[in-house]
Amino acid sequence: MAKRITFATRFGTIVAVGGSVVGLGNIWRFPYLAGENGGSAFMLTYITISLLISIPIMLSEFIIGRSSRRNALRSFKKLSRGNRLWMSAGYMGILSAFLILAFYSVIGGWALKFLLSSIAGTFIGATPESIATGFDAFVAGGWQPLLFAFLFSAACAAVVAAGVVKGIERYNKILMPLMVLILVGLNVNAFFMSGWREGAEFLLRPDFGKITWRVGLEALGQSFFSMSIGMGAMITYGSYMKRSENMFRVAGTVAITDLSIAILSGMAIFPAVFTYGISPTSGPELVFLALPNIFAQLPGGYLVAVLFFMMLVAAAITSSVSLLEVIAAYMSEELRISRRKATILGAAGVFALSILCALSQIPGSGLRLLGSNIFDLFNSSTSNVLMPLGAMLIVVFAGWALGRDKFNRQLTSEGRYGTRLLRPAVRFMIRFVIPPFIALLFLAQIGFIK
Ligand code: TRP
Repeated sequence: MAKRITFATRFGTIVAVGGSVVGLGNIWRFPYLAGENGGSAFMLTYITISLLISIPIMLSEFIIGRSSRRNALRSFKKLSRGNRLWMSAGYMGILSAFLILAFYSVIGGWALKFLLSSIAGTFIGATPESIATGFDAFVAGGWQPLLFAFLFSAACAAVVAAGVVKGIERYNKILMPLMVLILVGLNVNAFFMSGWREGAEFLLRPDFGKITWRVGLEALGQSFFSMSIGMGAMITYGSYMKRSENMFRVAGTVAITDLSIAILSGMAIFPAVFTYGISPTSGPELVFLALPNIFAQLPGGYLVAVLFFMMLVAAAITSSVSLLEVIAAYMSEELRISRRKATILGAAGVFALSILCALSQIPGSGLRLLGSNIFDLFNSSTSNVLMPLGAMLIVVFAGWALGRDKFNRQLTSEGRYGTRLLRPAVRFMIRFVIPPFIALLFLAQIGFIK
């Protein structure tokens, strides 16, 4: 077999992983979940989990991917010599990729629609009421969300079809730094809003009493979603990583970036939520209701809005690309079809599911499954069930089944990095702390412990 292609440079690796990690999860999902789960209680739990639990899980995925140099399913097949249990982790990951992409593309489509609206100047002089009614009409109309989800998916497929280095690495290099810049600017602006204090307190003032098992599980799910772990995306990217790459540095840098961008988004959005009287528990619509108000009031708001939504679409595309890459790598390698064909077939399958998601959001559509609309079902079942389960299998496999030598060699890049302190600490977390922690949250969730 030919030598597997790898990311060209260290910066390129960090930026590609960063591009996967930073996305709608930070700017759309984090703020609305924080709003629904008591603000600071959620925020605190989320930060702790990201640092202590999610980083070692990301390292486990890198270890598995780089030692097998295969797609998410093949990795488990090869390393476990075809063991059914471990292969089920691979299959679950591919299922998760389909389900996540299905609803992710719908929100990506919303972002695209908002980009066009901002270019058209729709938000100039808008009021909180006009913004809310406009948004409801957009979602309820049905055909527009479908059209934009389609355009969004097509853009992602084009990047993936272009290949690992040319497609993924190149776009991320430009877009990631631009995003941080705009978010910092929005934070400065938020500081001068009348609702800044209330917003900041909502997110930052510790309130341990509000931390419940439910908040814990939602925070875990959000952390996994935001860090793109628990379903094999990082196994796939790990398989493209150079042997000499320092994975501690990649995981650490990316986790800190991810957390910072989530917090920056929260701190840009909640002051506006309180200033314009939007309910923090608005759910998935939250940022789309809050942001236009900021732009409507901001001097030069037209330009900032255009830039912001451009960047939001871009961040969403780089993340979707990593999800589609899981599907494309799997299909092209297993079905032995070209990368192009695999990408198009995969994207078409995803779009079929996106149609269900978008239509299920129309009020009274009746498109429901297991008691919730299909969009919500895909959204919460992936983060709160499939990914924690996948993460559990991933860490147990890396920590207990892979073998000490392979584990250590990959984690330290053949003895190059972190051999004294980091290696034993991470191995300990992976073997003894993370599996019981995930199990605990699960048991609590199904009411086994109170
Ligand atoms: N992390 C991305 C975001 O925050 C979404 C994403 C990309 C993802 N790849 C993933 C989520 C893999 C779960 C698994 O927007």
